[in-house]
Amino acid sequence: MESLTLRASPSSTASPLLRLPGRRRAASVRVSASASGAGEPDLSVTVNGLKMPNPFVIGSGPPGTNYTVMKRAFDEGWGGVIAKTVSLDAGKVINVTPRYARLRADPNGSTKSPIIGWQNIELISDRPLETMLNEFKQLKKEYPDRILIGSIMEEYNKAAWHELIERVEESGVDALEINFSCPHGMPERKMGAAVGQDCALLEEVSGWINEKATVPVWSKMTPNITDITEPSRIALKSGSEGIAAINTIMSVMGIDLKTLRPEPCVEGYSTPGGYSARAVHPIALAKVMQIARLIKEEFPEGRSLSAIGGVETGNDAAEFILLGADTVQVCTGVMMHGYGLVKKLCTELQDFMRMHDFSSIEDFRGASLPYFTTHTDLVQRQKEAIKQRKAIRMGLQSDKDWTGDGFVKETESMVSN
Ligand SMILES: Cc1cc2nc3c(=O)[nH]c(=O)nc-3n(C[C@H](O)[C@H](O)[C@H](O)COP(=O)(O)O)c2cc1C
Repeated sequence: MESLTLRASPSSTASPLLRLPGRRRAASVRVSASASGAGEPDLSVTVNGLKMPNPFVIGSGPPGTNYTVMKRAFDEGWGGVIAKTVSLDAGKVINVTPRYARLRADPNGSTKSPIIGWQNIELISDRPLETMLNEFKQLKKEYPDRILIGSIMEEYNKAAWHELIERVEESGVDALEINFSCPHGMPERKMGAAVGQDCALLEEVSGWINEKATVPVWSKMTPNITDITEPSRIALKSGSEGIAAINTIMSVMGIDLKTLRPEPCVEGYSTPGGYSARAVHPIALAKVMQIARLIKEEFPEGRSLSAIGGVETGNDAAEFILLGADTVQVCTGVMMHGYGLVKKLCTELQDFMRMHDFSSIEDFRGASLPYFTTHTDLVQRQKEAIKQRKAIRMGLQSDKDWTGDGFVKETESMVSN
């Protein structure tokens, strides 16, 4: 049985919040269309107690890297913002340029064809922690009702993690996302994916985090692992309220066939990076589906799921929600289309909801999940279906086969026109 932990409310002197299944565990709360007062499909969600006007959240990365851009995200109507990942000592974070490379749909790379893949070798925030924390404070002062989530990452050191959590929480953020998933640069310091890919390490570090944090914790998972449910299970068992997935997929964007050097090329050399954007969406769907099933089967009291990967349309988001996601994060999509993208995402998601007469996100969250099964089961189902179709085509074999309930159908099965 899970032990009960007390998590004090970070931003108030009110009595500590009891960290019980059901307090922040309950992933989503339904808010009906009538409650919102409008006949429009209601996009609002409440996840781990965090109320958002819509499920669209800025994913950690360049779109959440400083006060100006995060303010812009709130002004444009994003449901929440996850800031760029911070650590205690930004002085150790040294970026290079160029650090992005893009893949276009056209095999010859015509600049007129759409971008489908994006690689980055960008590290976490290189801005001083104090600066970032002051900006979080300022944003929470100006937008007290909007959700700001701090993304954090530290070295393998309990005291460092505890200090980082304490300082980030003091800035007034509503929740923490733990970056267990950065695929480049940071693993060399036993950070990011180095933790997310090592279940023993993850269990220990997750334990440190969850004993300290007083706000909801989302653990962000790497897809660069054989079975994403293994670290997800450990993070949830260690007390994380939710899982966020996926971070980028390890990639080499290409080789310049003139220079024979890999891309993005920095002083003639490169290093594998993280792949994002439209091309990763099907992979992200599969990982999110696996995590959603894990939550449903093993954490029935409810945990939250924040889906990430290649979202550029409301339909992309609908797919994630149909698999069980509570919120949907967008990073590269914002880098390509700007902050105004959220308006299109909301309109398209509402169009989808109208088409099915869904009035709230909860009306369809997880609706497609039961339709995943094993290949063996598919074979069995198909055998059965063929048998039934044949039986209908052939009609009744004998007068003894007539039934009362199926009489009309049985009659029709033997009519030729
Ligand atoms: C340039 C860039 C920088 C990123 N930096 C971070 C980061 O600091 N922390 C983090 O957790 N994820 C980071 N990510 C990963 C994204 O948050 C997201 O998980 C991933 O890109 C997939 O989503 P997308 O296809 O919407 O971009 C970064 C992604 C990009 C493209």
